[in-house]
Amino acid sequence: MSDLRPRNRTSRLVRRRRTIVVTSIVAVAVLVAVVAAVAIAVAAPGKKAPMPVPSASGSATTTPTATPTPSPTPTPTPTFNKSAQSLDDPNSYWVVVNKLRPLAPSDFAAADLVEVPVPYVNQPFLRQVASDAVVAMFAAFHAETGLSMQSQSAYRSYSTQVRVYQGWVDSLGQAGADLTSARPGYSEHQTGLAIDINALPDQGCALEVCWGNTPHAQWLHAQAWRFGFIVRYPGDKTPITGYESEPYHLRYVGVQLATELHNTGVTTLEEFFGLPAAPDYAK
Ligand code: DAL
Ligand code: ZN
Repeated sequence: MSDLRPRNRTSRLVRRRRTIVVTSIVAVAVLVAVVAAVAIAVAAPGKKAPMPVPSASGSATTTPTATPTPSPTPTPTPTFNKSAQSLDDPNSYWVVVNKLRPLAPSDFAAADLVEVPVPYVNQPFLRQVASDAVVAMFAAFHAETGLSMQSQSAYRSYSTQVRVYQGWVDSLGQAGADLTSARPGYSEHQTGLAIDINALPDQGCALEVCWGNTPHAQWLHAQAWRFGFIVRYPGDKTPITGYESEPYHLRYVGVQLATELHNTGVTTLEEFFGLPAAPDYAK
């Protein structure tokens, strides 16, 4: 037994030393871990801990944040009411006229047509609100670019459209005419809400697809919505509208709808209102 005591004492001493060593290692490891965690938290607070949420009272503990950048993705107005105006009544600013939706009655003429006080090729008349919007738009264009625009063609009666359409048939044939000119009773120009715009002075390409390359057309494409207008016949929507690109044909729909179309990126009335595509006439 006696020869066991020294060994036992030695064994206890060894165990105690081992315990001290292990405890020290664990303590150092814990300390290192805590220091590392604090260092990471200080270096990247946004990644490890949520930023303080500003209180309603504007607590002094909130961290100042950068001015929010406007979202690059336009969003539709959640409350936009697509039924606010008629799509069928020719007196409605939202009336949709296309190859499947003729004006009714076919000899419709708006009661509030006025002469539009802007330079022109053909004396222009439009409904009062559309006329006012054209004047404001031409003025803004001049102020913002130093360039000028004029009206090429605005309101056209049924009988005027008979003459205009026949002129295109004579020069292009019926198939060619139908790509660029509405048959009588099917033209937006008869609503008193549509205008073909040209540069002032004329620089060529009037009423042609190439007019889309002018700074005038590019400004209208980007800015006309501010004044309640849309470019009605985009070049990539011929299967829906039935017409080739008409960068010069602007249709007044009102600022509310034009803004919604701009914000949503929808470029035709048919798509926005869920109406059938109108690539051709029913008969
Ligand atoms: N150019 C358009 C389609 C019209 O004649 O009404
Ligand atoms: Zn037109």
